[in-house]
Parts: sequence; structure tokens; C-alpha cells
Amino acid sequence: MKKRIGLLTSGGDCPGLNATIRGVAKAVYERIGADNVEMIGIEDGYHGLIFGEYHVMKPSDFSGILTMGGTILGTSRQPYSKMQVIEEDNINKVSNMKKYYKEMKLDCLLTLGGNGTHKTANLLAEQGLNIIGLPKTIDNDIYGTDVTFGFHTAVGTATDVIDKIHTTASSHRRVMLIEVMGNKAGWLTLYSGLAGGADIILIPEVPYRFEAVMEAIDRRARNGRAFSIIVVAEGAMDADEANMKKKERAGHREQAGYKTATQRIADQIEAGSGYQTRVVISGHIVRGGSPTAYDRVLATQFGVYAATLIERDIYGVTVAMKNNVVTHNPLAEIAGITKLVPIDHQMVDVARNMGICMGD
Ligand code: F6P
Repeated sequence: MKKRIGLLTSGGDCPGLNATIRGVAKAVYERIGADNVEMIGIEDGYHGLIFGEYHVMKPSDFSGILTMGGTILGTSRQPYSKMQVIEEDNINKVSNMKKYYKEMKLDCLLTLGGNGTHKTANLLAEQGLNIIGLPKTIDNDIYGTDVTFGFHTAVGTATDVIDKIHTTASSHRRVMLIEVMGNKAGWLTLYSGLAGGADIILIPEVPYRFEAVMEAIDRRARNGRAFSIIVVAEGAMDADEANMKKKERAGHREQAGYKTATQRIADQIEAGSGYQTRVVISGHIVRGGSPTAYDRVLATQFGVYAATLIERDIYGVTVAMKNNVVTHNPLAEIAGITKLVPIDHQMVDVARNMGICMGD
């Protein structure tokens, strides 16, 4: 009887997803034998599991994808908050997922995704499905693992953006603000800001004071550096906003005509000083491209480890990297916990020791 393994990729895409899919498949074929295994690809994340959109994959499907960004399976966002809600389509999502899991005759299901994906994965595990999670996100905000695949590549891409902005900032003696993805956690902004030589780094975990930002810009000008580079996480907020609930903050910003803090800071700088500013939203660029060698190796390590879990029938867990050792965590222990940047984190200290203003 062939071992039937389901694969789905869910949430924001990132480089390394295909490398991980490839790692799982090749390791499973190697360890269990291609004749004893059937890989089933579920399309567009949990949407495909809810609506029964899947296909049997061939070994050749996993060739040539190591270097490909994105995901050959497609992905979607199916908010965990809605998973147990019957909406206007009258579909019971959880019972549908269980039904198609059974229809596919799966021995296990591998879910590649971020925090939201892991919450639904845990829900399915609690419903008795054999689930293995793999931690994916450019945000690196999954609790229980030191690193997620996609993060390293995104740091490199965001750093390239910052590097390119550096030259035009210094030519025009401007204050350039680069916004980087990261709604809740500022890991990507912190690391790319450090790598890109930013002067000011604003992350959601450290509410900023505009006065501190201005003082840092003025200090540079006094020292003959008439331009500044400010790297802003899309989720950065000022001290007042940090005391607001999410909805209140969104309403407050909508009223003022801003979606994120970045343009507002730029406008405040121009209004209160003679500095010219320009804003660059790196946006989905940092989600694109081919995975770096580091992420290809990490993705392959994670994929191989998942294959060993399948061989040992260990489920209800998610793969992790801890102190350079690939291991796993119980899904129940990590699902839904966001790994934020501790304000005393060593990398925050490194930034401060480099004279980088963290906005406080
Ligand atoms: O979760 C990863 C992420 O890239 C966040 O950093 C970003 O805020 C979000 O996805 C963007 O989501 P979408 O691709 O659905 O616009």
C-alpha cells in the first residue's frame, strides 16, 4: 500500500517554498522508495483542501524547482479566524477539509506556511488528521524556530533596495524612507536595515517618537552627513499609536490619510525642517525571486527532516531550527504565537552600538 502524502503551501509566498517541496519529495522517494509513495499536491493552500482541488504529482514535478521563487502549488490566505465560521457560501470548512483529506486517502498532510497556517494546521491535528508543519515566512516571526525559510532571501532583497537608495540619497542630500514588509514583527526591517547601513530603523516592537527621529537626522547633518536613510517596517507605529487598539489605530490613520507610518513621517520631516524626503515602498519585491543558497540549504534540511518524521509516523508537529539543529515542536505549543523582536535583543543592541536610532 503506497504512503499517500499531501502537500499544501499557504499564506504569503516566499522564496524557498519550492525548494522545501523538492526536499520533502526527493527525501521521501529516497528513503521510502518512489514506488511506495504517492505525493498529492493540494492547490492554493487551504482553499484547495476546502474545495477538493488537488492532483497526484509525479517525481518529475519536483525537478528543476530548487531555484524557483514562489510555489508550484499556488497559495492563498484563508484566515484562521474564519475557519470555524459558516459564511454566506454555507460551507463548513473544517468538515470539508476532513472530507477531502479522507477522499485523498492521505496518510499525512504537510502544511508549509506562517503563523496563520500553523493555527489551522493545529486545528486539523486536533481533529485527528496527521499533520506536519514547515515554517515559512519572510517575517521570521514563527515562535519556536530560530529561522524560517524565505527570511534570508528577503533580507538580501531588502538590503539591495536600501543599497540602491543610498546612492541617490547622498547625491541629492535627501532623507530617504524605505518601507519593508513586516506588519507585526520587525525582524526583516531590523536585519536589512543593519545590512543596508540604515541610520534609523523603526520596527513595530519599538514605538518611535518623531522627536527622536528628527534629532538623529539633525545630528547627522551637524556631522556633515546631509542625507539619512530611514528603514521603516510597515507595522511601525509611534508611541501614541502603540497605546491604541489595532482598529482604533487603523481609523486614526485613515482619518489622517495614511495607511502606514512611512509617508506620515516623511511629511512630518518636510513640514518641520528644510530636508527633502522621498519614500520607497519595497512591498512585494521582498517576497520575490530565487532563494539564496542559504535558504535553499535550509529548505532542503527542513524537507529532509520532514521526510524522516513521515517515515517514523511522527505527526502533530512542525519542523524547526534550534541552535543550528533541525528538530520539531508540537504544533499545539507554537501555533499562533508570533515571535516578536525582544527590545533587548542582541541585534537591537548591535544597532544601538552602531549609533543607529531605533526611534525611541
Ligand atoms: O506574512 C508575510 C507578508 O509578506 C507580510 O510581511 C505582509 O504584511 C503580508 O504578507 C502581505 O500580504 P499579502 O501578500 O496578502 O498582501
